Amino acid sequence: MTSLGVNIDHIANVREARKTNEPDPVKISLLAELGGADGITVHLREDRRHIQDKDLKLLKNTLVTSLNLEMAATEEMFAIAKKINPSMITLVPEKREEITTEGGLDVINNFDNLSHHINKFLALDIPISVFIDPIFEQIQAVKKLNASFIELHTGSYATSKMNNKVIELAKIKESVHFAKDIGLNVNAGHGLTYQNVEPIAAIGGISELNIGHSIISRSLSVGLKEAVKEMKYLILNPRKDFIC
Ligand code: PXP
Repeated sequence: MTSLGVNIDHIANVREARKTNEPDPVKISLLAELGGADGITVHLREDRRHIQDKDLKLLKNTLVTSLNLEMAATEEMFAIAKKINPSMITLVPEKREEITTEGGLDVINNFDNLSHHINKFLALDIPISVFIDPIFEQIQAVKKLNASFIELHTGSYATSKMNNKVIELAKIKESVHFAKDIGLNVNAGHGLTYQNVEPIAAIGGISELNIGHSIISRSLSVGLKEAVKEMKYLILNPRKDFIC
């Protein structure tokens, strides 16, 4: 069964727009859990544009589900992760000028740096996931890193149209099967919405979908608990004949 990780960075974005203390992403996460979220995902960015260090500590002490910490593979971030001890670390690429994470990690060309960090963390017993594009060579490189999870970047699938969407969906599907065949667990996310999530959920074999922007946007109309409930329903009951 595929679980739902709700990315709450956008709640912190609203707070940081005024540098005040509301809305509080920690309190609001509890509503996501009440709606059926299986975990909360946050990205602690180097420029702290949304999630702050104090949010991590509070989330870790408050959540009844799991905490997936997305971060860049740097010494600073690893020191923080070691202190917080999240349920999972997802390594993502990070550029200061990007609006959101724009592509997967290039594991092949950053192998030594990633290997250096991952080896330290394997000793702490925190599952490591690596966010990559759905490319077989990148999946194989993650396997060589001894990480136990990949997170497949669904952004190209989400933004493509018509025939290209079918092609991008096939890439995700083949990547899920390939990764599982070589012994990796598979998460996926980025750009998933109420309109495009069902074909991804219908693939089967995906451990967790991480979804943020669409759920937080919908929550402005119906509240976060209901927005999470609606997304969870689509993930657990996808129409199999549906391609958007
Ligand atoms: N997964 C990863 C690795 C991400 O960086 C993000 C965006 O922060 C998401 C999932 C969620 O993407 P979205 O907000 O488009 O649902």
